[in-house]
Amino acid sequence: MYIKVLFDKYTNDKRLHTGWGLSFLVNDKILFDTGENGNWLLHNIENLDIDLNKIKIVVVSHEHYDHTGGLWELLKKKKGIQVYGCPDFSNEFKNKVKNFKARIIETIEMTEISKNIFITGQIQDKYQPIPEQALVVKSNNSISIITGCAHPGIINMVRKIKEFFPKEIISMILGGFHLMGEDKRIIALIVEDFRKIGVKKVGPTHCTGPEAEQAFRREYKKDFIHVKVGEAIHLFNFIKKTEFKRKKEVKWKSKLRIPISAKKY
Ligand SMILES: [Fe+2]
Ligand SMILES: [Fe+2]
Repeated sequence: MYIKVLFDKYTNDKRLHTGWGLSFLVNDKILFDTGENGNWLLHNIENLDIDLNKIKIVVVSHEHYDHTGGLWELLKKKKGIQVYGCPDFSNEFKNKVKNFKARIIETIEMTEISKNIFITGQIQDKYQPIPEQALVVKSNNSISIITGCAHPGIINMVRKIKEFFPKEIISMILGGFHLMGEDKRIIALIVEDFRKIGVKKVGPTHCTGPEAEQAFRREYKKDFIHVKVGEAIHLFNFIKKTEFKRKKEVKWKSKLRIPISAKKY
């Protein structure tokens, strides 16, 4: 299992576009969010040697432009894509997807969309009523969580996911944690909560904000993942609950093949 970073704010590869929003590709076939701009997304897809034909599913975390912006160019280029959205997304969004001859599937609850790949279905917080869903990748006794912006609250979302996977260890949480401009004490409490919940690795990016990213980096040290466009993050394999066997992150650059050994998950 691996996640390729197709769009986000940092990269080491100057040929690639970076910007606001994010787009992650899981196992070459499920796209999670589409970044802010369709031409930039397609440019990165092409330059990273991604096979568009393999992408069958797009999961849209929430309706903000920096997560949906790349969707329309993609739907123009690739027919027959299934788009997973939340029931409370606007009719405007849902109709637009249909107008591109794509199918919109509204997920209410935790759903396995491909073997060991789940989406949470709509999560909504009463104080922050932006409907949002996250992606969960399961492997053996562990799960990894990918979030868009985490508007309902990153800890709320993680707790909700844990209700469904009570025995699984959380090997990684990756994505936007929506902590930009947040009070330092709140950030410290959230980092502490991650430790209490037992999260092994973190890849905070996008709207997590520089202060929270630094706080996670300080706490997690070698287990902090600096998310960069053009790189792949390989998920971990838990043999037993207590035994944490971690694979080294294998960097993936354009035109280079993923090492075969990393494919066996
Ligand atoms: Fe965002
Ligand atoms: Fe957002």
